[in-house]
Amino acid sequence: MAETKIIGVVGSGQMGSGIAQLAAVYGLDVLLLDTDLAALSRARKSIAGNIQRLVSKGHLSQAAFSEAVGRLYCTSKLEELHEADFVIEAIVESEDVKKKLFLELDKIVKSSAILASNTSSISITRLASATSTPSQVIGMHFMNPPPIMKLVEIVRGADTSDETFYATKTLAERFGKTVICSQDFSGFIVNRILMPMINEAFHTLYTGVATKEDIDTGMKLGTNHPMGPLELADFIGLDVCLSIMKVLHAGLGDSKYAPCPLLVQYVDAGRVGRKRGIGVYDYRKSLEQVKP
Ligand code: NAI
Repeated sequence: MAETKIIGVVGSGQMGSGIAQLAAVYGLDVLLLDTDLAALSRARKSIAGNIQRLVSKGHLSQAAFSEAVGRLYCTSKLEELHEADFVIEAIVESEDVKKKLFLELDKIVKSSAILASNTSSISITRLASATSTPSQVIGMHFMNPPPIMKLVEIVRGADTSDETFYATKTLAERFGKTVICSQDFSGFIVNRILMPMINEAFHTLYTGVATKEDIDTGMKLGTNHPMGPLELADFIGLDVCLSIMKVLHAGLGDSKYAPCPLLVQYVDAGRVGRKRGIGVYDYRKSLEQVKP
C-alpha cells in the first residue's frame, strides 16, 4: 500500500479548508481546489491564521508553520489534481453535484488514486458508480471543525476494496483521529442519530413548546451536550442540515425523517447559520464587534 504524500481537497468551505489545514500540518502536500476564487482566498487566509495560532500556543515551531503553509497550493483548475495520491471532496451536499465531480475526477486522477467523499449522508455506492474504479471510492467523514474534532467516520461502498479502506484508515490515524466504520446507509452513524435530534429541536421551536434559548439550555445542562441542538445546527449550516434530512427521508423512507417546515423556511429565507451571520440566532452584531 503506497503512502499518501499528495492530497487533493475539493471545496474550500468550512470542511475543506479544515481538512487542508490538517493535512498540511501533518506533512502532506495539499492541492486545495474551489470553483469560487473568493472562497479559496478566504480559506488560504484562515488556514494560515489557524496554523499561526498553533505557533502562538506553542504547539508548532515557526519553521513548522512556514513548512505547512508552503505545502498548501490553491487552485481552481481540476486538472491540477492529476498528481494527487488521494482526493477528498467537501463540496455542496448534493448527490448530483458530487456525482458530476466524481465523473470528472475519474478522468483526471492517476489510476492508483483513492477518491474519498466527506459527505454527511449521501450513498458512497452511488457516488462510486460515477467512476470507473468503485473499489477506490470511500467515505471519509470528518467532523466540524476537522482540525479539532477527534473522529473520522469511514464508510465503505458496496465495492470499496480492503486496500482503499486501510489506506484511508491509515491516513485518518496519521492525522491523530479515532476511526469508526459505518455501512453505507443514509446518514451513516453520526448523522443518523444527530440530525433527527436537531430536526426535533426545530419541531419543538415550531410548535411553540419552548424558546430557542430554553431548548438549547435544556439539552446543554440536561444532557451534558457542549452545544444546544439549535446552536449546533447554526454551526453546521442549516442548508447542510436540511440536505441531510432530505437524504435520510428519501433513503430510509420513513415520514419521521421529514424535514421540519421551520428548518425549510429558514433555509428558503437564506438564514443558513453562522456562515451567513444569521440562522436560528442572529450573529451579525457579534461579527461586527470582532471586525478589526
Ligand atoms: P461550505 O458551503 O462551507 O463549502 C462548500 C465549498 O464547496 C464552497 O466553497 C463552494 O464554493 C465549493 N464548491 C461547490 N461546488 C463545487 C464544485 N463543483 N467544485 C469545487 N468546489 C465546489 O460547505 P461545508 O459545510 O464545508 O460542507 C461540505 C461537505 O462536507 C458537505 O458534503 C457536507 O455535508 C459535509 N460536512 C459538513 C459538516 C458541517 O458541519 N458543515 C460536517 C461534516 C461533513
